Amino acid sequence: MNIEEIYSLIAADMDKVNACIQSRLQSEVVLINQIGAYIINSGGKRLRPVIHLLAARALDYQGSQHIDLATIIEFIHTATLLHDDVVDSSELRRGQETANHLFGNEASVLVGDFLYSRAFEMMVDVNRMPVMDIMAHATNTIAEGEVQQLLNVHDADTTEARYLEVIHNKTAKLFESASQLGAVIAERSKTEEQAMKAYGMHLGCAFQLIDDVLDYSASSEELGKNVGDDLAEGKPTMPLIYAMRNGTTEEAAVVRHAIEKGGLEQIEGVCAAIESTGAIDYTAQCARVEADKAIEALNIIPASKYKDALSFLAEFSVNRSY
Ligand code: IPE
Ligand code: IPE
Ligand code: MG
Ligand code: MG
Ligand code: MG
Repeated sequence: MNIEEIYSLIAADMDKVNACIQSRLQSEVVLINQIGAYIINSGGKRLRPVIHLLAARALDYQGSQHIDLATIIEFIHTATLLHDDVVDSSELRRGQETANHLFGNEASVLVGDFLYSRAFEMMVDVNRMPVMDIMAHATNTIAEGEVQQLLNVHDADTTEARYLEVIHNKTAKLFESASQLGAVIAERSKTEEQAMKAYGMHLGCAFQLIDDVLDYSASSEELGKNVGDDLAEGKPTMPLIYAMRNGTTEEAAVVRHAIEKGGLEQIEGVCAAIESTGAIDYTAQCARVEADKAIEALNIIPASKYKDALSFLAEFSVNRSY
């Protein structure tokens, strides 16, 4: 299996999602259309809507609300990206200039708010209280995760546990909602709903662990984002936490100093410490464990090509290079 096969498995649904995204993006305010179209049409893997569609199909959902929910989930994801690039002072996303770099921080934050609130308008139309409950909770948790992360910035004493809580909240929660909602709209058993929820949560943790690996090991060209952004902002992600814990006194001191000061002046020393301690392998191994848990959670779901695709996406989250 490869990622193209996954997309083609749900191509008809995805076409509808893309049409829904375009129509619900519209506003009478020109700048909203401009920035909205700029970020939405810049690509992106559409992984969260794909997971939602596959989950709904794997559980034999026959209605059409999965199209709206996939759109809602991608809008919320896009809103978090607009805000995230402001917070992270990032200049490159999806291989092009970030919206904040091109249109300014103010416009990015405000259009992010538009996307969040448009998603909630659409959720009211879906008119299902459990959906509202899950998504309201998820967006709130994402915001908490980002604030928790802010508190960890420049704090070299951030523990692995605190880091894991951040990635669970800021990233895994939306993946969890995407897969869980597939079971919710298909009105499946609580057991299946919990299994789909666990799948998304573990996949999401794996996904962010690898994102944090790629920030040190990928090429900006392939990733479509500038590598080194995390170090520049003084973010204590897993590779750094591990390198400090397992490096020599000197290596630990270099990494600590880089976290506390931010900036990229120390990047060579930091990369050397990451290299000699095997911090990238360790972080990737943690992601592997999470992906395996995601796949295991699918055990109780009936066999289908959609289920196979969900398993594959857990693998993809670990093996990806973009
Ligand atoms: C980026 O997510 C934000 C993280 C949670 C790491 P994606 O890597 O899914 O972003 P796009 O949508 O494919 O650009
Ligand atoms: C993910 O973290 C952010 C959100 C979930 C909003 P990052 O800040 O690492 O994401 P990228 O690397 O900029 O895509
Ligand atoms: Mg970022
Ligand atoms: Mg960020
Ligand atoms: Mg990142």
